[in-house]
Amino acid sequence: MTRYAHVTGWGMAVPERVLTNRELEAMVDTNDEWIVSRTGIRERRIADKNDSTATLATRAARRALESADIGPEAVDLIIVASASPDHLFPATACLVQDALGAAKAGAFDLSAACSGFIFAIHMASQAIQTGAIDAALIIGSETLSRLLNWEDRSTAILFGDGAGAFVLEARETPGGVMAGVMRSDGSGGGLLAVQAGGSRFPASHETVERKQHTITMNGREVFRFATHVMASATREVVKKAGLQLDDIEVVVPHQANLRIIEAAARGLRLPMERFIVNIDRYGNTSSASIPIAVCEAVHAGRIKPGDHVVLVGFGAGLTWGAVALQWVETERKVSRSRRGRIRIRGLLARLRSAIMRWMRRLEGLIWGAANEPER
Ligand code: ACO
Repeated sequence: MTRYAHVTGWGMAVPERVLTNRELEAMVDTNDEWIVSRTGIRERRIADKNDSTATLATRAARRALESADIGPEAVDLIIVASASPDHLFPATACLVQDALGAAKAGAFDLSAACSGFIFAIHMASQAIQTGAIDAALIIGSETLSRLLNWEDRSTAILFGDGAGAFVLEARETPGGVMAGVMRSDGSGGGLLAVQAGGSRFPASHETVERKQHTITMNGREVFRFATHVMASATREVVKKAGLQLDDIEVVVPHQANLRIIEAAARGLRLPMERFIVNIDRYGNTSSASIPIAVCEAVHAGRIKPGDHVVLVGFGAGLTWGAVALQWVETERKVSRSRRGRIRIRGLLARLRSAIMRWMRRLEGLIWGAANEPER
């Protein structure tokens, strides 16, 4: 039996707080006209202090599980793609796994910056197609606002916070993920980076003073690289999927700059109507931008069952990649009682996680008391 990896659920979560270009004018030397004409961005969402990459990821994941009509216990693998994880370790994916109560899932983070969600789908769909797993939760989640230097106008205007998630499941029906392309060129690593906070430049007073924990970018070089690889990766993945460019009904590009998307459309000789664009409302949400755009496109009826869709992105690393898929599953109408059962199963799974945590704490206390040195 041939196994296909279908997108059976999708969900997104963005913070409520909207930061407009006008507000940015009061923070750095910039203006709305420059930002809109050079990037296409009008506003972005900024996480409040109670949110983090993990909490946004968990909210998007819950919505994706609900739309797939499965409970967290059915998930075999959780991948969180992020350039702004909660910690160096533990993995943000493990925090999400615990919050969801996905008891049997392996969970890890994937670091490929804005290409992370593409890489994650590619890896998870391979695992489903080979029979290694049956269901995966793939999440792109970011709170890049925490890594910005708010005095640097070349980066402060670009990025926003948010999360998007897909459930991928094994099916016998042809369709789903058809092909993927993953590429990297580490020689361009310095073009877009957060220098400090890792083992090369551990956190110190100096690194903080020099603002080395914030994003630095050579915008022009990244722009040049991006316009080239968006078109080439799309062509490559379409060919790998055995399709022609004309077969592609919808392209969902990484939302980094409207001019990059327009250049890709020109390079591919495809009309802009086939491209999903929401950068005006969210800015660049890095690994979350593609799943957020997919969620909105499905909701608006821009992606329909049977459509051939290309997801294509690029990012720090440098990294770039694309995935071709056929959108087959429609969002199921989950009955109220079934939704209720899924919620209860989710609650039970979370309760189980909480009990496990208490048990571990108790075990630690007992072990500590038993091994206390005799005086
Ligand atoms: N407001 C007003 N003026 C500005 C601003 C600003 N926010 N930023 C730069 N300028 C000025 C510059 O100082 C420069 O002035 P000068 O000519 O007097 O020196 C002028 O505007 C032009 O600057 P450029 O850098 O050439 O502007 P450009 O048209 O290249 O746009 C931008 C800059 C928007 C950053 C663009 O290069 C870009 O989008 N690059 C790609 C960035 C990207 O996609 N990064 C994310 C990758 S994904 C990931 O992994 C996170």
